[in-house]
Amino acid sequence: MIADDLREYIAQAEAMGQLQRVSGAHWDLEIGALTELLAGQKALLFDAIPGYPEQFRVFTNPIHTWPLAKAAAGVPESVQHKLDAARSLKDKLKTFEPLPCAEVESGPILEHVQQGEAVDAWSFPTPRWHELDGGRFIGTGVSVITRDPDDGWINAGVYRVQVHEKDVVSCFMSPGRHGLIHCMKYWERGQNAPVALVCGHGPALLMAAANGLPTGVSEYGFAGWLRGQPIEVVRAPATGLPVPASAELVLEGEIPPPWVEKRWDGPFGEWRGYYDFDHPTPRPDVPVVHVKSISYRDDPILLGSPPLRPPLDGWYNLLHSAFLWHDLEHALGVPEVRGAWMLESGGNFLVSVISIKQRYGGHAMHAAMAANASRTGAYHQRYTIVVDDDIDPTDLGEVLWAVATRCDPKEQTTILPDTWFAPGDNLLGPEQRAARDFTHSRMILNACRPYYWKDKFPPVNRLSTELKAQIEEKWRDVLFQC
Ligand SMILES: Cc1cc2nc3c(=O)[nH]c(=O)nc-3n(C[C@H](O)[C@H](O)[C@H](O)COP(=O)(O)O)c2cc1C
Repeated sequence: MIADDLREYIAQAEAMGQLQRVSGAHWDLEIGALTELLAGQKALLFDAIPGYPEQFRVFTNPIHTWPLAKAAAGVPESVQHKLDAARSLKDKLKTFEPLPCAEVESGPILEHVQQGEAVDAWSFPTPRWHELDGGRFIGTGVSVITRDPDDGWINAGVYRVQVHEKDVVSCFMSPGRHGLIHCMKYWERGQNAPVALVCGHGPALLMAAANGLPTGVSEYGFAGWLRGQPIEVVRAPATGLPVPASAELVLEGEIPPPWVEKRWDGPFGEWRGYYDFDHPTPRPDVPVVHVKSISYRDDPILLGSPPLRPPLDGWYNLLHSAFLWHDLEHALGVPEVRGAWMLESGGNFLVSVISIKQRYGGHAMHAAMAANASRTGAYHQRYTIVVDDDIDPTDLGEVLWAVATRCDPKEQTTILPDTWFAPGDNLLGPEQRAARDFTHSRMILNACRPYYWKDKFPPVNRLSTELKAQIEEKWRDVLFQC
């Protein structure tokens, strides 16, 4: 079963040989640098961080190895191929029924509570992650909990959080984020928005909060379903928002409307592989959280998942790809989808690849348009590539071979204007930024054999399965000595 909380998950990572312990690394760049250098190889648990109690720890690279990504998503260790892992999750998604969180009276998160003057967000060893970062970001693997004031729907989203003062942090929510929509509803009523920032919890909630669930679906209900057991929550002391009973560290507070107060956050090294904004200009208009209360466990462990330059293996794209595949097949009814994958080089958002068994003229465009209409693919995709079913969509080399040999740039590409991107996009020029226009175009590449003459398309120059089997049998000594 997927680990319940962060401590159980860290123990699991250690038992799997996926954990490296590090003592004495400094919060200023050393933790960030080691995290970057060992991404894809190990999860890291830092203690004895200079200037902080020895057991105030930081855990990083939570799902940055393939074995850990599978453990966090509940995919059996025996599943080796990435596409098989995405398929198993996609098939599981068909059975999705939210498993609501279970409220309990108390939990380890309430072991220590700072309130009023005692609130001090600097009391934790928050790293400065990247060299050009403009501050210390406590929220990188954070789940930002908000409540819809209309119907009570609880959302959790991963949105970066920077510490500015002992009781002031900022939280950047990109336009369209559910958390921001909740806040806007409070602001329209002339109220501040209550929020709880959970900095350290189990992997199921992290996976859920990092992925776009449909509007109205709570990440708690999804994480509970993924685990097969409800997430236990307590009411956070200042806001009453539900937070995991075994969370490590929770900051609670209120977000005033940005026209009353806002901050500049960053610069911050982001997932696209660039600093956001153009260094050294930080991003304006970032909502401010006035922190009213901080709760934490004995010897808290801050969960850090700083964005790193792509490509990265075993990242959040496993569930992301499964969602895309599921949406194409089940929500949008595209037939014969043989695979869907958000490529690592695109930071799991920018480039999607869909493989289909072509059954009708226009099938590839149907799949591509559906991908761009899906919850997963609507946001921040720059290239949608559709390939035939002989191409493995997780294999960048095969995908590029299909683009190079099956996609005529004039006949088989389509540009969609004016689509949903984000203020942090590195391709936004100064004028567009000044106009606060965060849209971009995107391209569909139909890299399938042209449907109406696909039977006349030259055969692939590769051994047939039969000949390969014969040769392997006859030349076993030669082949398996090399
Ligand atoms: C490590 C990590 C950091 C992220 N940081 C941000 C961020 O700072 N702001 C943001 O709007 N989205 C960020 N995202 C993306 C959102 O968490 C993601 O799109 C999520 O689906 C949003 O939840 P929502 O659909 O409930 O709004 C981040 C994702 C990850 C995995």
